Amino acid sequence: MKLLVTGSHGLLGTNIIPVLKRYFDVISLDIEEWDITDEKSGQKILQHFKPHTVINLAAFTDVDGCEDNQERATRINSEGPGIVAGLCRKYAISMVHFSTDYIFDGNTPFPYKEDDRPNPLSVYGMTKLQGERNVLEKHPSPLIIRTQWLYGDGGEHFISKLIRVAKEKGIVEVVNDQIGSPTYAKDLAEPLLILIKKNKSGIYHITNTGSCSWFEFAQRVFDYLHMNIPVRPISSDRLNRKAKRPRYSVFDCSKVQQDTNVTLRLWQEALKEYCNGLL
Ligand SMILES: NC(=O)c1ccc[n+]([C@@H]2O[C@H](COP(=O)([O-])OP(=O)(O)OC[C@H]3O[C@@H](n4cnc5c(N)ncnc54)[C@H](OP(=O)(O)O)[C@@H]3O)[C@@H](O)[C@H]2O)c1
Repeated sequence: MKLLVTGSHGLLGTNIIPVLKRYFDVISLDIEEWDITDEKSGQKILQHFKPHTVINLAAFTDVDGCEDNQERATRINSEGPGIVAGLCRKYAISMVHFSTDYIFDGNTPFPYKEDDRPNPLSVYGMTKLQGERNVLEKHPSPLIIRTQWLYGDGGEHFISKLIRVAKEKGIVEVVNDQIGSPTYAKDLAEPLLILIKKNKSGIYHITNTGSCSWFEFAQRVFDYLHMNIPVRPISSDRLNRKAKRPRYSVFDCSKVQQDTNVTLRLWQEALKEYCNGLL
């Protein structure tokens, strides 16, 4: 089975493609080969490669950057996925699309289920939600996977930034009023490939198990890396970032557990393995 992955050089692509390659014939493209906002080049690419499934990882993921670049965010996060979905429909290709916890407002004490009401607080969240809607409108049976708080090999993410600041300043300040589930990007590969093999469609929430604040996450990173760095808890208000983030965005992952028989490991276990690889 042939998979074609867009936005493949990013964090998620770097981590899942090596696993997917063990099971599928994978064509990895990024913006230089296929800018997903360009329908004509998409058409040529799909006619040429004739994949069974397109996995769309292409996105504008700079959450604060999206606040200043709403037009670009709309083009890449909303319109681009709609273009990919329309082309996939035209050529009878299956489509997998990735989305985010930032489509929710976080004003709940319970883990989010797939059909809970979205209410994004940021341009990134709004444009990603519209991307989901465009994909659902343009493709008859897309698979949409929402995930969150990714880290892994390559790319920029919380842990790489945390280590950089720690080395520069010897101390870090991290918010303690946002709760989520840190997720090792490569762990998404197994449930993803099972969902593809089973030809599943619809929305799925997938993260590592358990939850914490960014503050607790940072403490655990330094613990596992044996780095003696003081971590000071601060509030989101004090950090004053451009984009507002959900306060609590933990996912209920029971649907993917039922449909794939996979429960991702605890976030601490996955993080420990990742940190051991950095030592
Ligand atoms: N990272 C997370 O914590 C997280 C959490 C939840 C959901 N997600 C979702 O997971 C997916 C993958 O995220 P990621 O973390 O791998 O993002 P990423 O590291 O930012 O990678 C996205 C890739 O897409 C490329 N790209 C940007 N615009 C494009 C375009 N018009 N056409 C084709 N490619 C384009 C980027 O290239 P440039 O770098 O050159 O722009 C980059 O290589 C996204 O849908 C994201 O919303 C991520």
